[in-house]
Amino acid sequence: ATVEHTFNVATLCWPRISQPGDVSITAVDGVPGPVIEAYEGDTVVVHVINDSPHNVTIHWHGVIQRGTPWADGPEMVTQCPIRPGTRYTYRFNVSGQEGTLWWHAHASFLRATVHGALIIRPRAGAGAYPFPTPDGEAVVLLGEWWNDENAISSNVIADAYTINGKPGDLYAGETTANRSAKFEVTRNSTYLLRIINAALNTAFFFKVAGHTFTVVAADASYTTSYETDVIVIAPGQTVDALMAADASPGCYYMAISSYQSAFPPPPGGFNGNVTTSLVEYAGAAAPGGGQQAPALPDTPEPTDTDTANRFYTGLTALVRPGMPRVPLTVDTRMFVTVGLGLRYPPCEPTQTTPCQPIPVATMNNQSFVLPSAMSMLDARYRNTPDGVYTRDFPDRPPVEFDYTNRTEMVVGGSAAALLFPGMPATKVRKLEYNATVEMVLQNTALVGRESHPMHLHGFDFFVLAQGFGNYDDATGSQQFNLRNPQERNTIAVPTGGWAVIRFVADNPGMWFMHCHIDSHLSIGLGMVFEVEDGPTPDTKLPPPPADLPQC
Ligand code: C2O
Repeated sequence: ATVEHTFNVATLCWPRISQPGDVSITAVDGVPGPVIEAYEGDTVVVHVINDSPHNVTIHWHGVIQRGTPWADGPEMVTQCPIRPGTRYTYRFNVSGQEGTLWWHAHASFLRATVHGALIIRPRAGAGAYPFPTPDGEAVVLLGEWWNDENAISSNVIADAYTINGKPGDLYAGETTANRSAKFEVTRNSTYLLRIINAALNTAFFFKVAGHTFTVVAADASYTTSYETDVIVIAPGQTVDALMAADASPGCYYMAISSYQSAFPPPPGGFNGNVTTSLVEYAGAAAPGGGQQAPALPDTPEPTDTDTANRFYTGLTALVRPGMPRVPLTVDTRMFVTVGLGLRYPPCEPTQTTPCQPIPVATMNNQSFVLPSAMSMLDARYRNTPDGVYTRDFPDRPPVEFDYTNRTEMVVGGSAAALLFPGMPATKVRKLEYNATVEMVLQNTALVGRESHPMHLHGFDFFVLAQGFGNYDDATGSQQFNLRNPQERNTIAVPTGGWAVIRFVADNPGMWFMHCHIDSHLSIGLGMVFEVEDGPTPDTKLPPPPADLPQC
């Protein structure tokens, strides 16, 4: 079947949070935007009409886009933007994927407000889930909010965190217009929560007072049932969790709090407030009935890396017949540092004060910049990457050092205070069709230890292992789970640590890999894989649609 939507990207008036009045934002109908509901194998058709003053593209986060790489969406990687006043129709298929994904703008910082859920149900309906059929389902989309759209690009710290667009009734100064999202439940029923972290820059802990969860999927890949009372979710990730409404009838807070892997928040916390929504049992909330205040869950400390690590390493794949197995031989091995650094620009001759360093983010010392003349996919089609990208993304960092303990690099034995300068470039790693790629993602500590949620377009990957400190192949490879590793599209590389992933490059195209923290992506934390055509007609890149936006 075909699932068809029209997305009007436009300037809307939307209520401010914790301040009176409205603010202008860019959005599709509201925040969050519409939910796309499809069944496995459906064709999704979305007509995007850009009535906003910004260049826009939409990315279908987690959709593999086999045979339709031009529909993936990242601006200047797979397409030129949809200009103000123009339109473009995305068409793609959701075969072989089930679970919760999402869509978001992939141009400048627009995804702060241009985003929504994309749900793919089993073709045979909810009864075909590989877990007990839930009585109900709910999308729980976690986000960030800025009261001034122009501040999004400069303020890493949002004015509020939100659940389905609302900060909750405990949020200081909250006005009644946009108080709390509410989830109504019936006692002794089970609900499938489809949790999405759409925040630009913040990982969250997620809890519901008096309730526990059974995680059944992450990033739209089924997991072995995993019991927990706290869910940890980094920007870009999704978690599907069953919640049994088995508490005594009443009203309970669902709450999120930030996981700050880099720096402890200031006293009172970033935003200083608890973000909540309500889980309300049917019949339990008679208006004015002298209700008790809802119970609030204890959320972990903001720097609770133990809890994050326990959750992230607790997940394993639900192995089912016909599922892809972990490839046991590796064709391409990469060791890639991921992190922030500083670059000292050349001083102006007239400058009297010392030059200010510029923050940069890098993978293997390369700070990724988007091309401007044409998209990378266009350049590949025209066979003219010259001037658009180069094929020299390195398989190892140019300098090896103590990644997780040093705050500056020592080069050639001398203490040159070279802060990982990372010059801007547009570099790709070309991959042979069907090559098995293993990547060690090694976080650095040059400017703070931090967990980077690394997202790969065009593929799900197996997470073989993750740990702390500098990766060492002799001991690290001993920890590989080759039997039932979780499959994801976004891995939160542990703070001051590493993760090892593996995938098969069987999807020809240009595929972005980047940190899903927008403040890092915008200063270069990304790279692109160029996956070559295969040998047979059905493994060669088909030509792009004639109406793909041009630059
Ligand atoms: Cu959800 Cu390239 O991102």
